Amino acid sequence: MKKIGILTGGADCSGLNSVIRAIVRKAIKEGYVITGIKNGWNGLIENDMRILDLRLTSGILALGGTILGTSRHVPPLSEEQMRLAIENFKRSGIDALIVVGGEDTLKIALDLKTQGNLPIVGVPKSIDNALSGTDYAFGFDTAVNIATECIDRLHTTAESHHRIIVIEVMGRYTGWIAVQAGIAGGANIVLIPEYPVDMQKICASIRSRHKRGKTFSIIVVSEGTRILGQRSKIAQMNSKHNIGYVSRVIADIIEAETGYETRVSVLGHIQRGGTPTAFDRILGTRFGIHAVELVKRNKVGQMVSLRCNKICSVDIKEAVKKRKTIKKSLYQITEIFSDF
Ligand code: F6P
Repeated sequence: MKKIGILTGGADCSGLNSVIRAIVRKAIKEGYVITGIKNGWNGLIENDMRILDLRLTSGILALGGTILGTSRHVPPLSEEQMRLAIENFKRSGIDALIVVGGEDTLKIALDLKTQGNLPIVGVPKSIDNALSGTDYAFGFDTAVNIATECIDRLHTTAESHHRIIVIEVMGRYTGWIAVQAGIAGGANIVLIPEYPVDMQKICASIRSRHKRGKTFSIIVVSEGTRILGQRSKIAQMNSKHNIGYVSRVIADIIEAETGYETRVSVLGHIQRGGTPTAFDRILGTRFGIHAVELVKRNKVGQMVSLRCNKICSVDIKEAVKKRKTIKKSLYQITEIFSDF
């Protein structure tokens, strides 16, 4: 009997368990044995694995997080970690490894494939939706829905108090959550990493909104947004996230320049927790089933992908080559609702 391994790596998000459940169901139907690797790449490095069955993966479709656990590794792994991962993989008897993760996790998968010849199939996970190899990664839709609900709630308190509220959402390098949730939540201004911010322009826009009788504003900001003329703290921290920093800086400038009372609300990890939306459950299920199909057809080195609502696959190498950023035309939708 052939054996499939599965691991979930990097930041968690809603929908991971939907993927695990689908992989286990489909794989068992196809006659495979499934081994779950615990805590992302740590489990392969430390040889921490266990057989998954229907009982262990039942009732998890709507559960947030990952029953396998996860860990964060920024590529490349050290030489010693690579050696242990390859050695433990070879000893495990696993014929193909399904790796569920974002950019960092899939880059490590690619290294293991290239250096250790590991047969790997990827499944894209990213609340930031930054992977260019797929239209959507699962986890993103849930994050957008959570952020949209929070924006709705913050709207009413901003209006009652005649305040500016700066709402920070996740998005280290790309502004997908900010743009989508900003449009859905009716934000007045959306600020994202792709387009550095001119604070004078933002303050002028808020003043002009006040002049026409709107004495509150909702500003949605991605965590990785850069302010023109200021050195990005993200860059200084060299790829580490910096949740809660830029929104504070922006709010302080707005209050000092306009005199309007300003508050900050950082949504942070709330966007990654809890039950997935129907979209993410379905996408995760489709991805999981297709990943097993790829193993069955021996199409290793591929990542499952969604293109124009069709499930297909792309080379992992291509999928992680560059980030999917927000095009000006999409960003301009948000600007229609700003008083620029
Ligand atoms: O990678 C996704 C992400 O959501 C980023 O937007 C954010 O910077 C990061 O995770 C924070 O993750 P953690 O606190 O788990 O390192």
